[in-house]
Amino acid sequence: MSILSCEHVAMKFRTRGDENTFSALKDVSFRLEKGESAGIVGPSGSGKSTLAEILGGLEKPSSGEVFFRGRSLSSMKGDELKDFHRNVQYIFQDPKASMNPFFTIAKVLREPVRINFPSLSDEVINERIESLLERLSLPSWILKRRPYELSGGQAQRIVIARALLLESEVIIADEPTSSLDISVQAQIINLMRHIRRDRGTSFIFISHDLDLVRYFSDRVYRMEDGVLREEDADD
Ligand SMILES: Nc1ncnc2c1ncn2[C@@H]1O[C@H](COP(=O)(O)OP(=O)(O)O)[C@@H](O)[C@H]1O
Ligand SMILES: [Mg+2]
Repeated sequence: MSILSCEHVAMKFRTRGDENTFSALKDVSFRLEKGESAGIVGPSGSGKSTLAEILGGLEKPSSGEVFFRGRSLSSMKGDELKDFHRNVQYIFQDPKASMNPFFTIAKVLREPVRINFPSLSDEVINERIESLLERLSLPSWILKRRPYELSGGQAQRIVIARALLLESEVIIADEPTSSLDISVQAQIINLMRHIRRDRGTSFIFISHDLDLVRYFSDRVYRMEDGVLREEDADD
């Protein structure tokens, strides 16, 4: 059974009033296996983020269905839905947009863990945060800072750290390195590769850079005008 999949997903957006619609996704089916990394490439405006947001449970498709561990997302509520959102983390291109600007980084990391694992003591949570920061080559003084004081690379690593603290099974990274310079890009990609190897986390990695996607992914898909196709390995 796939960890995350969708069947016949379509997404229509209204344009100019009610009569006109634009099909951003046309009958997309996709499966992600446990521990697999799937890469999605395609030009800007082809529907990559729309699909990522639907798979991450941030948007509802016009038709079709998303499944997590074989259970349909639209039928989930309460604890099951909470469990889905903890396990499927969506990482935006602009990581600072997904952090509360008034929180310190310590709070950004700690709050979701407290909410999702109420039985963990603050001491245990702090230990986990400290050891994770070390792994991500982030200094511990960063915990006292606020999101706007971080560089793009630091912010992206904090968002990845947050997903790891939640022990997410799937990380959807939507152009996570596009705004970063080359050396920081490489750092983030290698970090994600280590996470995959050590934790068996499944990834959906979206980029317009085919080489980067090939380097990171077991399987590569191409999105074009709302249609998703698997790329042949020998293309
Ligand atoms: N909320 C929305 N309302 C109307 N059109 C949208 C909306 N979101 C995305 N689109 C359109 O859907 C298409 C696909 O967008 P997107 O998924 O963001 O592409 P990508 O991530 O591949 O650049 C684009 O033409 C975009 O303008
Ligand atoms: Mg996009």
